[in-house]
Parts: sequence; structure tokens; C-alpha cells
Amino acid sequence: MASLATNCAGLVLRNPILSASGTFGHGLEMQHFAPPSCLGGLVSKTVTLKPRHGNPHPRIAETEAGLLNSIGLENRGIEAYLRDVLPQMASADCVVVTNIGGERVEDFAELAACLDARPEVDALEINLSCPNVQGGKLPFSTDPRMAEAVVRGVRAATRKPLFAKLSPNVTDIGEIARAAEAAGADAITAVNTLLGMSVDWRTGKPGINTVMGGYSGAGIKPVALRCAWQCVRSVRIPVIGCGGIATAHDVLEYLVVGCRAVEVGTACFSDPSQLARLAPEIARLLEERGIESIEHLIGTLRTTLPVQPAPAGAR
Ligand SMILES: Cc1cc2nc3c(=O)[nH]c(=O)nc-3n(C[C@H](O)[C@H](O)[C@H](O)COP(=O)(O)O)c2cc1C
Repeated sequence: MASLATNCAGLVLRNPILSASGTFGHGLEMQHFAPPSCLGGLVSKTVTLKPRHGNPHPRIAETEAGLLNSIGLENRGIEAYLRDVLPQMASADCVVVTNIGGERVEDFAELAACLDARPEVDALEINLSCPNVQGGKLPFSTDPRMAEAVVRGVRAATRKPLFAKLSPNVTDIGEIARAAEAAGADAITAVNTLLGMSVDWRTGKPGINTVMGGYSGAGIKPVALRCAWQCVRSVRIPVIGCGGIATAHDVLEYLVVGCRAVEVGTACFSDPSQLARLAPEIARLLEERGIESIEHLIGTLRTTLPVQPAPAGAR
């Protein structure tokens, strides 16, 4: 049996598959479809300091090749998360990652401080796509200085491994990844949703109430894969790929470009149980090719470009 275990940011993952934030609840609600024991890890929906009702409906629209969403970070806030959700996560037989979001640099650090002492949490993922209310509402992830400030604040508040989750909606994602690494991130998650919109020409109505929203799913895979690869080339910390992953082949593509793990999002909506089928299918594909360990595949992209991605062992 091929080994699927991988190391990422000091965490041992039984396989490289994690759920993506906001698409799988907090994880345990979905265990009848995909038990945690089939996964490397569960990433929670973004948690904020105060409860948030989110944006007005409609806030999800289907497109030809994926989803548009403008959920607006609906969640019950950190108090309810600490009290009601985390105690249950203690029984999750996989790595548990809490995704945090804020409107100010200080919000992120405060959230990290609240979570630091909780043993149920193995790592934090920082959702840098949140709008910065002190800086013209542009997402933190679009400015390397803001991204660095957020990660630095969180780093000072916790010793838990930190994933900095980046937005693809930037000119040079490598620059943002380097800023997050310099500020103390232990891994980069690449990427969050692409900015998109849809419209029904008959009614003239946009697909979602906010007109523009986050585009995800199959259609974004080439963009997200490119972003992940650019991050791999830009930093020495591990990169976790995310965007348009639905099949075992998709997962393996991200590993070949150098990611040490992946997160699966939109695909969970059409069939949450497929998350549980990915690892056995990957093992089968590796065995078919005579590859003993997933580690042997990571970063094996064959390119004639002068600058090669750093070898997997260097991260
Ligand atoms: C309905 C929905 C809600 C999401 N909520 C969050 C969230 O709360 N925090 C976050 O960091 N990303 C959130 N995301 C982004 C996903 O975690 C993921 O980065 C993105 O959808 C790309 O992956 P995918 O193509 O596999 O869905 C959400 C995505 C969707 C579709």
C-alpha cells in the first residue's frame, strides 16, 4: 500500500487531503459523508470575534463551471465557537485547523490569543481575504504590508502552526507569500476564491445580491494551480493548494507542482462523500505507477524553466 502520509508545517497528516474553509461546516457535521479518519485534516468555517449574519440573499449562484458566493463570513463568533464547537472537535481523528478572520489587524491577534490554549486546535489558518475596514475595505491579502502585519500579530499571540491563506486576486502572489513567510507563517494556503460575477440577461438580475463575489470550483483550477506553483517558487515554507479540486488526479497535480497538502471546497457541495474516496483512489493511482510514497511525487514538476521550484525536502 502506497504511503500517503505527509508532513506539513510540523503537522503529521495521514493523507494530504483537508476540507476547505466554509464548505464543510466545522467538519464533524459531515462525518456521515466523510469521517475525519479518511482525511488529513478539517479546516473550520472562518470564525470572527463577533457573530456575523452575513450578506443578504441570494448569496450563492451556480455558474457553468463552479459557484459564486458572497456569504459574508456568517458565523456565531468566537465565544460560541469556543463553547459549543471546539469541545466536539476533540474527538476528530485528524488534524483540526481553525480558520480566523477579522476586520482589523488586532482582531486576528485577539482571535489567535483566544485559541492558543485550546488543545483541540492543531493549527490556525488566517483568512487574509477579509476586508480591512481601516484601509479602504481592501482585503489584507492584496497588500504585502497588511498581510505581513496580520501574520506578525497572530504569530506573537500563538505558538500554534499558522497557515496564511492568500487571495488569487493580486498581481504578484509570490510577493504576498514572501511577506507572510517573513512575518512567521508556517505554511501558505493558495488560494481563496477569485472575484467574479454572473447575471441573468432575461431578468437583468445579478446571480448574487452583492453583484461581485467569490468564484470557486472546477473553473478556477488552472488559475489556482498557477498561484500555488508561484507560491512554491517564492517561499521555503510548505504550500497547501486549494482551488477546483474534485478528483484524485486534481490532488496529484497540486502535489506535482510542489504542494505538500491540498484543501477541497466546492466539490463537497455536489457530493460531500467524495472527500472520503480521494485517499483510496490516490493510493491506487500511486501503486499503479509503482510510487511507494506520496512524498516522492511532491515537487516533481518537469520544466525547462531556468528557476526550478525548491525540492520538496528543502521545505
Ligand atoms: C460557499 C463558500 C464559502 C466559503 N467560505 C470561506 C470561509 O469562510 N473562509 C475561507 O477562508 N474561505 C472560504 N471559502 C473559500 C474556500 O475555502 C476555497 O478557498 C475556495 O472555494 C477555492 O476552493 P474550491 O474551488 O475547491 O472551492 C468559501 C468558499 C465557498 C464556495
